[in-house]
Amino acid sequence: MKVTGLAFSDDMTARVGHLERACPGIPYPGIPRWARAVARVSSRSEHWQRMTMRGIEQIPWLYDLLMHLAPGVERWRGKLVAGARGRVLEVGCGTGRTLSGYREDVELFALDPNFDVLPRACRRCGDARLLCASAEFLPFADDSFDCVVSSLVFCSVPDVDRGLRELKRVLRPEGRLLMLEHVQARSKFGARFLDWIQPAWTRITGGCHPNRDTVAAVERAGFVIEADSLRVRGLMRRFTARLAD
Ligand SMILES: C[S@@+](CC[C@H](N)C(=O)[O-])C[C@H]1O[C@@H](n2cnc3c(N)ncnc32)[C@H](O)[C@@H]1O
Repeated sequence: MKVTGLAFSDDMTARVGHLERACPGIPYPGIPRWARAVARVSSRSEHWQRMTMRGIEQIPWLYDLLMHLAPGVERWRGKLVAGARGRVLEVGCGTGRTLSGYREDVELFALDPNFDVLPRACRRCGDARLLCASAEFLPFADDSFDCVVSSLVFCSVPDVDRGLRELKRVLRPEGRLLMLEHVQARSKFGARFLDWIQPAWTRITGGCHPNRDTVAAVERAGFVIEADSLRVRGLMRRFTARLAD
């Protein structure tokens, strides 16, 4: 099992020891120094945000407990990751609920900016390499991955456009983005309702914005959604996107 503690702010450093004890492994070599510096800076601002906003997403046992109540979402996760091939990056892996669903022949990297979820993710990650980092500052070179996977993450990413730009950067030109998201309601009433509950919802969940139009953001960022891959159920969307020419 390989664990990488890349992006730790100072007060998190003490907890690296905990992760290393919980998940004995070797550190991932070959991360360039500039990337470590960027990741560390990004981790500081992320950490600061999360110090002021701790919700369900930051409490691993509670998140997993609630997810047991949503078996439909679990099935969608399984279908999402089953399509991943080659060298794969999963952003926002959380407690690692997707990690056991990948094909054995993928080379998997998974990251989450929330340090507290990583020990759980680590128990589920098999041979994957885990990192503490955020989507907006990916510590990887350009064109590094055949596939990037994101499951219920971009509703919570603080800077969606920057995060999507980073995904584009690390994807190879022929690479694919596999995404599962919930989105803003289509009806006027539904959209107004989600706008209304958003501030409280974001607090309680620890970052989730129920009224984001992530599909539009993905297209705006320069991805093309493969029409035949799009699955819609209520507010949920699952799709594959490629980089626009
Ligand atoms: C609703 S949880 C989903 C977790 C997991 N992907 C799943 O399907 O169960 C959202 C996750 O996004 C992560 N997240 C929030 N901001 C992020 C960012 N800027 N970059 C990457 N992940 C982020 C959170 O830490 C959290 O683990």
